Amino acid sequence: MTKPRIGVLTSGGDCPGLNAVLRGVVLAAEKLGWEVLGFLDGFEGLLPPGNYIVLDRKRAAGIMPRGGTIIGTTNRGHFVAKVGAGDRVEVAERVIADARNVLKGLGVDGLIIVGGDGSMTTALQLQEAGINCIGVPKTIDNDLEATAMTFGFDSAVATVMDALDRLHTTATSHKRVMVLEVMGRHAGWIALHGGIAGGAHVILIPEIPFDYEKIAAALQARANRGNLSAIVVVAEGARPRDGQVVVHPSAEGEDKFGGIGVVVAREIAARTGKETRCTVLGHLQRGGAPTTLDRILGTRFGVKAVKLIHEKQFGSMVSYQNYQVRHVPIADAVNRLRLVPPGGELVQTARDVDISFGD
Ligand code: F6P
Repeated sequence: MTKPRIGVLTSGGDCPGLNAVLRGVVLAAEKLGWEVLGFLDGFEGLLPPGNYIVLDRKRAAGIMPRGGTIIGTTNRGHFVAKVGAGDRVEVAERVIADARNVLKGLGVDGLIIVGGDGSMTTALQLQEAGINCIGVPKTIDNDLEATAMTFGFDSAVATVMDALDRLHTTATSHKRVMVLEVMGRHAGWIALHGGIAGGAHVILIPEIPFDYEKIAAALQARANRGNLSAIVVVAEGARPRDGQVVVHPSAEGEDKFGGIGVVVAREIAARTGKETRCTVLGHLQRGGAPTTLDRILGTRFGVKAVKLIHEKQFGSMVSYQNYQVRHVPIADAVNRLRLVPPGGELVQTARDVDISFGD
């Protein structure tokens, strides 16, 4: 008798912890006597004739500390269900029908989709078309409303903190202002957590539009206390009160966030006369080994996804709430971003330790 089969794919931008999820899926599925097919390069692996590898205990050995995903990913291709700022587009019926036939032909009963908001929008369309899907949320931005935490975030924050620890020493030596641009298009969680942990003096986030004069005043107040260096963290989606976000065209034809750090550094230098430098952390935040927390969260999410298939809770997404791994309908998970509350406790704590938001 052939073993029951399930499929798994990773989609969208990668992040540390994806391999922990895959390992969790494989080990939990083997316990149930199931075989796991890992579809390659996101949803594209579902295109005929089906591009996959068998993920077994042997393949999963030693992958936990590895960044990225051993089955590849993409945020482009035939299954994109969101464009630009997030408008839903329909995946072509033919493409979905082809994927359904591939899965049927392979005898795959349930498909685990590890991805962010855009991938969950695709998952919803596949589910509506009769493909049994379970979602596992992933984003370093930690901005999905339906889950209190996603794996990858903690690792990204650790990278920001490490960068800030390094910037502090050179900033102090030269009495300079060091600006660090970090990821976060709509939500400032990485900047806020990383900035607090790394002892930043100014944190600029998308949720709190800033004023250059206020930033200059905060740095001046610091200088008046005898501190001639300063650290500024800016999320890529932050913008001045009367200005726009900074984007640049990419080769793929889509505007990408990034570039605000250089602008902020230039404006600070012009207003304070201080030597100012900018570092853009970019995709370093998405690479490298996952932290303890992300390894554990990834494992828990992978195991839970298998349980949800076992219970036939199709159309659900794994979710972390109140320290428990639960599930919610995928439909509840898409299109709802969790932003930093400007009046919330974390922002207030930052203000209480003299961090300025430039407002
Ligand atoms: O959503 C995750 C994210 O890392 C954002 O923070 C960032 O703006 C974007 O993806 C980068 O995308 P890409 O890898 O396509 O350049």
